[in-house]
Amino acid sequence: MKHFITLADLPDFKETLSSAIELKKDATKFDSIGKGKTLGMLFFNPSLRTRLSTQKAAQNLGVHTMVMNFSNEAWALEFEDGTRMSGLRSEHVKEAAAVVSQYCDMVAIRAFASLTDKEKDEAEIVLKNFAKYASVPIINMESATAHPLQGLADAITITEHQTIHRPKVVLTWAPHPKALPHAVGNSFTKMMNYMEADFIIAHPEGYALNPEITKGIKCVTNQEEALKGADFVYAKNWCSYEQYGQILRTDDEWMLTQEKMELTNNGKFMHCLPIRRNIVAADGVLDSPNSLVIKQSENRTYAAQAVLKQLLENG
Ligand code: CP
Repeated sequence: MKHFITLADLPDFKETLSSAIELKKDATKFDSIGKGKTLGMLFFNPSLRTRLSTQKAAQNLGVHTMVMNFSNEAWALEFEDGTRMSGLRSEHVKEAAAVVSQYCDMVAIRAFASLTDKEKDEAEIVLKNFAKYASVPIINMESATAHPLQGLADAITITEHQTIHRPKVVLTWAPHPKALPHAVGNSFTKMMNYMEADFIIAHPEGYALNPEITKGIKCVTNQEEALKGADFVYAKNWCSYEQYGQILRTDDEWMLTQEKMELTNNGKFMHCLPIRRNIVAADGVLDSPNSLVIKQSENRTYAAQAVLKQLLENG
């Protein structure tokens, strides 16, 4: 694996999942594998879980971390080729990526979608340019279209809590007052392709995810029908993909409530966090013993650790 930009970069998803589950049993077993190595962590957007869990993962492997908030601490970067840089952007990614590569053995990057320009977002300009100009592996800590470390952590959580071989898993759109990206929904969907499960996506009209990502997956617009008999319910908001970046409704009809969870097979509730209480899901859902949201964030450490370990082993 040269870079970890999507789950498809993993040579073997199932093996990585098993490795993460093993690492959780003895997190510091390989605490000298990263001796003398440095992970650079560049944030173009805020984070709680990704930042701390990835640092923790690095620490468990003996890797040092350097963290930089690019949004307000670094020079504004230019990504276009051949531009006359007379505006606000002071440094080109060509130099920035090459410079960071000299200080770090791996570089993890968070750079969200703009949600204003679908074509640019789908080109993954930040991650792809760093991968092009850096001489070290690039790790995706949530990009415009993917959040693979979250997807891998969610696979760990489902594996740990499934009680039957082929659970029913529902990814349901939920309301939110802000336009949110598709990255988590995309990576959860991609991850479910590797799992033995009956997987359904429920969303209101106008909120279908990228059809290339949902190809072959059952997508419905009746949330309550989808929830019936579910073993896992993953709630997540995303803005419209078709009317790119738009919020098409602000009502709470799709909020996850205890009454809706009663339709499930004593279903477990999942969300990547952060979550707006009583907007995305009611207090009763989040405070229920069936809520796995804190376990999901715990598993972010082992997902990141399994990925970092593979990159270190690759040399
Ligand atoms: N789930 C997740 O990525 O959380 P943060 O945005 O806090 O990192």
